[in-house]
Amino acid sequence: MKKGLFITFEGSEGSGKSTQIEFLRQYLVKRRKKVMLLREPGGVAISEKIRAILLDVCNKKMGSECETLLYLAARAQLVYEVIAPALTKGYIILCDRFMDSTVAYQGYGNGVDIEQIYEIGNFATGGVSPDLTFIFDLDAEKGLARIKRQKDRIEQRKMDYHKRVRLGYLAIAKKEPQRVKMLDATRTKENLQQEIQRIIKMVFGM
Ligand code: TMP
Repeated sequence: MKKGLFITFEGSEGSGKSTQIEFLRQYLVKRRKKVMLLREPGGVAISEKIRAILLDVCNKKMGSECETLLYLAARAQLVYEVIAPALTKGYIILCDRFMDSTVAYQGYGNGVDIEQIYEIGNFATGGVSPDLTFIFDLDAEKGLARIKRQKDRIEQRKMDYHKRVRLGYLAIAKKEPQRVKMLDATRTKENLQQEIQRIIKMVFGM
């Protein structure tokens, strides 16, 4: 039986979401909440190994079916090992990416059938899904320009791909306005965090 809360953070490359998750974690810890911060793909040893395969620039031959299944496999393990048990114990889980990423990147970006992603995705997660999702919206060019390190296999894709990913996120937000809150990622760090905390208070009263 679920007692905790599951909050996910989504968005295109370089949107600054990781910084905001860490700010929110600190905010909740100060309020004496049991918080867990995770990232996808990854978060546990098996899923981190899958992450390394997915992001390795040498894996140029990877087909979009294999890619989709690997993202879902990494998610299945993270849900099984950490997310599902932690929700039962009443944790607030903050997760950097989840199913919406697969819909946006593999579905809208790569043309994988979206209904199939939801169907196989549901098998992978056992139906575990976020209570609330923040999408950090940012122009694809601006976001990629913010990445100063070497780009990974997904980041290296053409600009058109990243533009489709952004449109995917916009479509998800339109389809599920109750769960998904869009944030303009060009706002200042302080301003974004205030908005996130305001929404958290409004939705969960904390
Ligand atoms: P990160 O850069 O946010 O750590 O995410 C790793 C990359 O994987 C990023 O380019 C987005 C991509 N990704 C997908 O393509 N599909 C997914 O389901 C997830 C979780 C991430």
